[in-house]
Amino acid sequence: MKDKKIILSGIQPTGTFTLGNYIGAVRNWTKLQEEFDCIYMIANMHAITVRQDPAALRKNTANAYALLLACGIDPEKSIAFIQSHNRCHAEMNWVLACSTQFGELSRMTQFKAKSEKHPDDINAGLFTYPVLMAGDILLYQSDLVPVGADQKQHLELTRDIAQRFNQKYGELFTIPEPYIGETGARVMSLQDPTSKMSKSDENPNACIFILEDKDTIIRKFRRAVTDSDTCVRFAEGKDGINNLMTIYSAVTGKTMDETEREFDGKGYGDFKTAVGEAVADHLAPIRERYAQFSADKAYLEKCWTEGAQKAESIARRTLSKAYRKVGFN
Ligand code: TYM
Repeated sequence: MKDKKIILSGIQPTGTFTLGNYIGAVRNWTKLQEEFDCIYMIANMHAITVRQDPAALRKNTANAYALLLACGIDPEKSIAFIQSHNRCHAEMNWVLACSTQFGELSRMTQFKAKSEKHPDDINAGLFTYPVLMAGDILLYQSDLVPVGADQKQHLELTRDIAQRFNQKYGELFTIPEPYIGETGARVMSLQDPTSKMSKSDENPNACIFILEDKDTIIRKFRRAVTDSDTCVRFAEGKDGINNLMTIYSAVTGKTMDETEREFDGKGYGDFKTAVGEAVADHLAPIRERYAQFSADKAYLEKCWTEGAQKAESIARRTLSKAYRKVGFN
């Protein structure tokens, strides 16, 4: 019997993290590590499903690892590693691919969206990406997977693949549950509050990157698209304000009611500036710690090497069992 639940999650190292990544996922990861056995991964193998400059990917992967530590992931408490350092992920991918249907993968909304975005490079990796992700999760017999709402469909597929494998070959995998936070599971674009905040947005004002300086952050919030009403309240149809209130709540801990009272009688301008300031103040210590961690290459390498060793020793056990179950000699 496991005494603590196992948590696994990952993030792609494509540029620095967005406020969406932070509020929807990474912030929850730091809280969970106090209570559970947590494993966090920089998903660099997922990143090459879209064209990457190799030198930039290498640098972004190291920086993403430093940023994970800066956000509060403690390598003494959690296992933090880089996906490609543990070859079990690639091997498990193949085993699980043979228990995944073409039709299931065709229904993934992220595959459809990314194919539309990169019509000249609809590669097989982009298509089978959710299988690699299922392997990430199942290799560690994870109980909970803390993610933003956009990953829910991939989690459901992971559960289906695991159940199918268990039925075909006999019990092996723990069936994981998604862990999606109540506030901030879907942080929206500041320029189009009906679509998700995404680092690939062409409009630089749509997305906050967590290492941006205070002035830039405040400026972007001041330009955020809202509505023609003037009253700060959380209500249907007020997507822009709802998004800003959600972000404000995530960084200050204030409820929607408290925020409505705080800005009673004040205009949107005051509110937007306050949100920008609160976000920038919340992120300031992360920027400082990032500067320290990213300058210490030896420490980073030590942490990710140890992380990969620990991750591999767990993953290897599950992979060996899977190999035996499917009948490999
Ligand atoms: P990625 O790198 O796109 O995003 C990392 C995490 O950030 C969340 N997120 C958001 N949450 C709220 N609002 C937003 N606007 C927003 N944008 C991103 C994502 O939901 C995610 O939790 N496939 C994954 C990485 C991955 C993974 C895994 C996750 C690889 N293997 C295994 C969990 C388990 C991805 O591309 O996340």
